[in-house]
Amino acid sequence: MLKKFNVTGTCIPNKHYIVDISKKIDKIMELIDGEEYFVINRPRQYGKTTTLFLLDNKLKESEDYFPIKISFEGIGDLIFDDENRFSKGFMKILERTIEFENVELSKFISSNKEGVETLDDLSYFITKFVREINKKVILMIDEVDKSSNNQLFLSFLGMLRNKYLLRSEGRDCTFHSIILAGVHDVKTLKVKIRSDEEHKYNSPWNIASDFEVDMSFSKEEIMTMLENYVEDKKVILDKEYFSEKLYFYTEGYPFLVSKLCKIIDEKIMSDGEFIWEKEYMDIAVKEILKDSNTNFESLIKNIENNEELYDFVKRIVLDNENINYIKTDNIVSLGSIYGILKEKDGVCKINNKLYEQLIYNHMMMKVIRQDKKQES
Ligand SMILES: Nc1ncnc2c1ncn2[C@@H]1O[C@H](COP(=O)(O)OP(=O)(O)OP(=O)(O)O)[C@@H](O)[C@H]1O
Ligand SMILES: [Mg+2]
Repeated sequence: MLKKFNVTGTCIPNKHYIVDISKKIDKIMELIDGEEYFVINRPRQYGKTTTLFLLDNKLKESEDYFPIKISFEGIGDLIFDDENRFSKGFMKILERTIEFENVELSKFISSNKEGVETLDDLSYFITKFVREINKKVILMIDEVDKSSNNQLFLSFLGMLRNKYLLRSEGRDCTFHSIILAGVHDVKTLKVKIRSDEEHKYNSPWNIASDFEVDMSFSKEEIMTMLENYVEDKKVILDKEYFSEKLYFYTEGYPFLVSKLCKIIDEKIMSDGEFIWEKEYMDIAVKEILKDSNTNFESLIKNIENNEELYDFVKRIVLDNENINYIKTDNIVSLGSIYGILKEKDGVCKINNKLYEQLIYNHMMMKVIRQDKKQES
C-alpha cells in the first residue's frame, strides 16, 4: 500500500510520509538520560503525540528502558471524583497499557489493586512496581490539558514530585523520567485553580526542567519527508525549492507542512501525473486558505474568544505595529501558547505567513462589513 501525507493525528512511519525527527528525539533522550521530569508543551498539532509515539518505539528498542505511554483523553471525569477512584483508575490504565506486551506484569498490577485507596497507597505501589520492573521506567502522559484543570490531578503530580525529591536523596524508588504532553505548561495552570495563598505559587510540577527542543521543522528536516515521498512514489520534484518554500510559508509548523504537501499530492497533481511543478506551491497556499480545517478553526476561535488577544493581534496584522515581545505579559504568553505569536528580533510576530494571511483576511472582512454598515 502506498503511503500518504497525514493531517489527522499521529504519524506512523510505515503508513505516512513523515519528517525524520531523530535529532529532536536524540535531544529528548538526553533529558531522559538526565532523569529529568518535563512537559512537552506546544500548540495544537505541533507533533507532540507523534513525538511520544516515536520516542516510545525508540525506548522499547533498548533493554535498559521500560517506557509506559498513556493518555488521559477519553477516560471521563469520574476518575477525578476522589482519591480512591483515581488511584485505582490510574492502576487500571497502567494494567491495560502493559497487558499487550507483558501479561505477567499486568497481573502484578491487578493483584496489587485491592489495597490501594489513597494517593499515598498509590505512591507505595509505584515504588513496588518500579522495583519489580527493575529497569529505567519512563512514564509518558499525553493530553494532560483537560486533567490539569483538576485538583486531584495536581495532587497526583504533587505526589510524583515528592517521590522525585525523595529519590534524589536516595530514599525512594520511582519513575526514572516523566514526560507530560499538552498545550499548556502545567506550571502556568496551577495559579488559576489554586485560590488559597499558600499554594498559589507552589506548583506541583516545579521540579520540571524547561523543555527547549525546537519542535518545528527546519528546512533540512522538511526535505527528509520529500525524500521519503520521492523514493516511495517516484514523483519528480525540486526538493531544494519545495523544502525552502514549505518552510517559508509555515515556519516549519508540523501540521501546516504536511497539509500543504497533502494538497499538492492529492488535489493539485492530476491522476497519473508524477511531477510537482513549481507553481503548485502557490496554488496549494491559495487552496489551504480557501478551505477551513480544524487547525485554522481553533486558531480563529482562540482569537475570537479573547477580546484583548484579538485587539493585540489586530495591531500587529492590520496596523503593522512593532510591539516588543515580553514573555511575562499575559497576552503575549497566551498568544504564544496558542501558536499565534512568536518572537523575532525582540518583536512580536505572527507565527507564520499562512496564519498571518488567514488572520488578515478574517479581520479585514470585519472592517469591510463595518464600513458598509456606516455607508448605509
Ligand atoms: N514527524 C512528522 N512528519 C510530518 N508531519 C507531522 C509529523 N509530526 C506531526 N506532523 C503533522 O502534524 C499533525 C499533528 O501531529 P500530532 O497529532 O502528533 O500533534 P499533537 O501536537 O499531538 O496535536 P494535538 O495538539 O492535536 O494533540 C499530524 O497529523 C501531521 O500532519
Ligand atoms: Mg496529540
